[in-house]
Amino acid sequence: MTAVGIDAVELWSGNLKLDLPETFAPVKGDDPEKYTKGLGLTSSSLPDTYEDIVTMGANAAYRLLDRKNIDLEDIGRIDVATESAFDNSKPVSTYVAGCLEDVFEGDLHHADKGERKFACLAGTQALNDAYNWIAADRHRGRSALVIATDTALYARGDAGEATQGAGAVAMLISEEPNLVELSAEYGIGSADETDFLKPNQQFPSVDGKRSVQVYLARMREALEDYKKAAGDIHPDDFIYGPFHTPYPGMVRKAAVLAYRNTIRGTDIEEEITDEIGPQPHPDNFDDNDEYQEAIRAYTDALSETEQYQNWYDDQISPTLRISRQVGNWYTGSVHIARTSALLNAVDRGIDPVGETMLVGSYGSGAQAEIHSERIREGWKDEISQLNIEEQLDDRYDLTFEEYELVHDAHNHDVDAEVDPFTAPSGEFVFDGWGRMGERKYRFVE
Ligand code: CAA
Repeated sequence: MTAVGIDAVELWSGNLKLDLPETFAPVKGDDPEKYTKGLGLTSSSLPDTYEDIVTMGANAAYRLLDRKNIDLEDIGRIDVATESAFDNSKPVSTYVAGCLEDVFEGDLHHADKGERKFACLAGTQALNDAYNWIAADRHRGRSALVIATDTALYARGDAGEATQGAGAVAMLISEEPNLVELSAEYGIGSADETDFLKPNQQFPSVDGKRSVQVYLARMREALEDYKKAAGDIHPDDFIYGPFHTPYPGMVRKAAVLAYRNTIRGTDIEEEITDEIGPQPHPDNFDDNDEYQEAIRAYTDALSETEQYQNWYDDQISPTLRISRQVGNWYTGSVHIARTSALLNAVDRGIDPVGETMLVGSYGSGAQAEIHSERIREGWKDEISQLNIEEQLDDRYDLTFEEYELVHDAHNHDVDAEVDPFTAPSGEFVFDGWGRMGERKYRFVE
């Protein structure tokens, strides 16, 4: 089979910024280091009053199609992944297609459109759908457009408020892709959980501490399942490990467990055993509490070893670069982690063609998915054309009072007339309501 994967990617950040240590922490009466060191975040991206999941998704897709000079005729499928949808019937992809048809020649009447839902995992599921569509040879030479777009807002005062974010990732999935090839093998860890959900409500009901444990448990299952499909793995098999990043501190917790798992039976474990002793095994303990205590102590000691810290600095820390500045983009989050890793490769001046990344996606509710991606020849040309750093620098820096207004403006239960903080340019904007309650959009030159 020919290689199938991500040919191109574009990111669109919400146009506003909330500075967490400078603006949010003082009002909350928190030590700024809770945000910068504990959660690992410096700021959140937030949507201006004229932005929503459609504008951000359409803007990312517009940049991608424009830059790649792609005709609408060549797009055979549009899947939008989101957990911020505002319509229970008409999929967001139809709104996005309408936007694209307004600015490009031709139409998308031939394109199969849908909306994918499984919390933050849906973006990766949409990638898999596109992969399967191409692998099954139902695509007639066309590409799929996968868009992950979310306004990840929490209720005011919720512990998750510090991890908010807003942005979209558009990805073109094609045969013989320029960026990365997706592996046929993938692993799943899935269970019926009530850690984070939105039962017909805009802001999530969250059991924050439990959601962290569920993330770790499902990721571990997915890793075991991936190994069943792909065979044993070694940490050195991978150049980067982009993971779903609700906030970088979550990935820090997951990384040490992934390292502990993947060094088992390897030369690395042997080397580390001399320093901190062997990994505890449940068979050697009569009591589960004693085993849990021993494995916790081992994991803490492991996280202090030079081997682990070098691995973390090389393979994990670079994936957090954009997340630190934008917060959680839900469905887009793992895809900004991949992009961050590849931006790091550009900065380091390395040539990672043929190298593999281990990608871990996660959605509350809950399901994790692990697959690998091989970096392709054209990766650098693609990644070098992103302007995400510029977008982040250009965000309007909100005061706390302005942030409160913006949150109200996006709260479906509040009737707030708030003027925009930025002037849109070369982008789609929300343009009011239509006669059937639909949201309307227009392109601003
Ligand atoms: N200096 C350094 N570190 C500090 C600090 C300081 N002054 N003050 C606190 N910290 C550390 C804490 O020790 C903690 O680190 P550890 O978890 O490693 O112990 C970290 O900062 C956060 O502090 P708290 O646990 O006190 O923070 P909190 O209770 O206010 O909220 C949270 C944390 C529960 C994760 C909350 O942000 C939340 O509910 N977030 C939304 C849910 C979420 O993101 N869950 C993640 C898994 S679910 C998922 O991945 C899906 C998704 O996208 C939502």
